[in-house]
Amino acid sequence: MKKIGIVTTGGDAPGMNAAIRALTRIAATENIQVLGFLRGWEGLMTNNFIQLTPRSVSGIIQLGGTILHTHRTLEFETREGVKKASQTLSANKVNGLVVIGGDGSFRGGCDLMEETDALIVGVPATIDNDVCGTEETIGFDTAVNTAVEEIDKIRDTAISHERIFVVEVMGRERGFLALTVGITVGAEIILIPEKKLALNEIFQTIKENIARGKKSGIIVAAEGVGDNQALTREIQKNTNLEARLSILGYAQRGGSPSARSRLLASLFADEAVRLLLDERGNRVVGLQKGKMTSSNLKESCHSKKPLDLSMLKLAEKLAT
Ligand code: F6P
Repeated sequence: MKKIGIVTTGGDAPGMNAAIRALTRIAATENIQVLGFLRGWEGLMTNNFIQLTPRSVSGIIQLGGTILHTHRTLEFETREGVKKASQTLSANKVNGLVVIGGDGSFRGGCDLMEETDALIVGVPATIDNDVCGTEETIGFDTAVNTAVEEIDKIRDTAISHERIFVVEVMGRERGFLALTVGITVGAEIILIPEKKLALNEIFQTIKENIARGKKSGIIVAAEGVGDNQALTREIQKNTNLEARLSILGYAQRGGSPSARSRLLASLFADEAVRLLLDERGNRVVGLQKGKMTSSNLKESCHSKKPLDLSMLKLAEKLAT
């Protein structure tokens, strides 16, 4: 293993820079050169990269985003695009590629595996925390903390005005972020794509809370549950409370990574370099039962990470 590439693809996540830094420095201790491909898969298709050295990754551990940038490109979904990326790897004699991203990124890595001899290893980094094979992804803890901080502020005005707030968090397909945020802000209701509630159930829960003396409330809803603007209007129409919508949006994707996200980034990077040194490709690193491990990349990106619905039960008990 003489030269590896790093690429950040898909949605960015706080902690990606900590992972780039750790990969570069750990590789340097093994005399491995590191190329950072720019703008996601586009950089591989256009041979656009920078040399990464221990000095060039100074001062980035605390930065959100990715210094390599990322970019969603349709061309990489074609065989020609993937072949171009493979040619770039062989032209630069890159033996291993670390893909930092989410499940969509890893599907791209699997496509590339069909066209290259370079070893591919995934490092899970997405605020959605929906990667099979790891209990937690880089950036998830940071996004949870960002959302909690914002919703605690929204709770103040909800109480003052005796309003219901529907707070939309990210998570187009999965509810891991909404579920954890909902529990940690003490939400009265949590709405996730995996378990949709009927409007009447929502109205009923709100009315029961009013009967218990609650004069305001927070509903945390993943963006993937549907039209949260319409839901807010229906809540106001069908309960005696005013209702407002607050969309947290892209602030959840940015910000300085938390200590936990930085730690995960550093540990995942160490595991990724070790896999490449052991000539083990088609792997995605992960945290399982508190231990650093790895699993089959192809299986991971074609599997759906199970969501622990007992957490929803806990949320209901806590919201009484
Ligand atoms: O990275 C995951 C994610 O933030 C999802 O939660 C969100 O729905 C999506 O990316 C937004 O994608 P884009 O940045 O392309 O708008």
